[in-house]
Amino acid sequence: MTPRLTIVGAGPGDVDLVTVKAIKAIKSANVILYDALVNIELLDYASPKAELIFVGKRKGCYAYQQNQINELIVQRALRYGHVVRLKGGDPFIFGRGAEELDYAREYAIEVGVVPGISSSSAVPAYQGIPLTKRNASESFWVITGTTKSHKISGDIALAANSTATVVILMGMSKLSEIVQIFSNEGKSETAVAIIQNGTRPDEKVGIGKISTIESIVEEKQLSNPAIIIIGEVVNQRVDFTDIYQKADLAKHTAQKN
Ligand SMILES: C[S@@+](CC[C@H](N)C(=O)[O-])C[C@H]1O[C@@H](n2cnc3c(N)ncnc32)[C@H](O)[C@@H]1O
Repeated sequence: MTPRLTIVGAGPGDVDLVTVKAIKAIKSANVILYDALVNIELLDYASPKAELIFVGKRKGCYAYQQNQINELIVQRALRYGHVVRLKGGDPFIFGRGAEELDYAREYAIEVGVVPGISSSSAVPAYQGIPLTKRNASESFWVITGTTKSHKISGDIALAANSTATVVILMGMSKLSEIVQIFSNEGKSETAVAIIQNGTRPDEKVGIGKISTIESIVEEKQLSNPAIIIIGEVVNQRVDFTDIYQKADLAKHTAQKN
């Protein structure tokens, strides 16, 4: 039995948005530590003998502090072998995957990573928003709204000064400051989309402009987990509603026959 840690990206929420490699890792795990944003249907792939430990946030409280998670990983790997650390989206995009990996390596535990489909690109895509598009956007920034010290990231002001598409994770509590920063850059008319629970059945969307987005959030009661997309690409959105409805219809028809 070799102590092993695989940090696995669980994708943005839709249970089918996961890699084959992630499923293989889940199947072979002796222990799985999973976060709140992970779709728990993925745990159905786990061996019945595997130990499943929820280490995320529930009702705003963390089940475990980060140092406790690090210790759990090491202790379980040394005792049981293969630990899978299952994280929402991609584990190396605001997922603290790299920190856990570093900690495990200090104990000479074999480590690996399975990249995941990040909410930063998949959630806009499901809403028909391309992050780049010829004549609309040449690049995109993915920024955290809130830093370790609970302050707004200084990168948001830099990004607001650019022509890039700006994607902000963990930014809902800083929305007023974000609006202010973009307004100061003369971007009150720039398009904004906010998507909560993207790719999940309970997905909620608000579309507006920098000048209107706060009242839209209020009206639609949008909250975490949500992603904020700012830029011309929001105006280039392709409405998939019809396509999804037709696909559903096709599915029902197929089932009936
Ligand atoms: C700690 S970060 C983890 C990001 C993750 N590693 C990824 O690549 O998607 C958590 C934030 O990601 C965003 N997020 C993750 N999943 C989401 C989803 N399904 N819909 C909207 N936002 C999501 C939210 O901003 C949430 O607060």
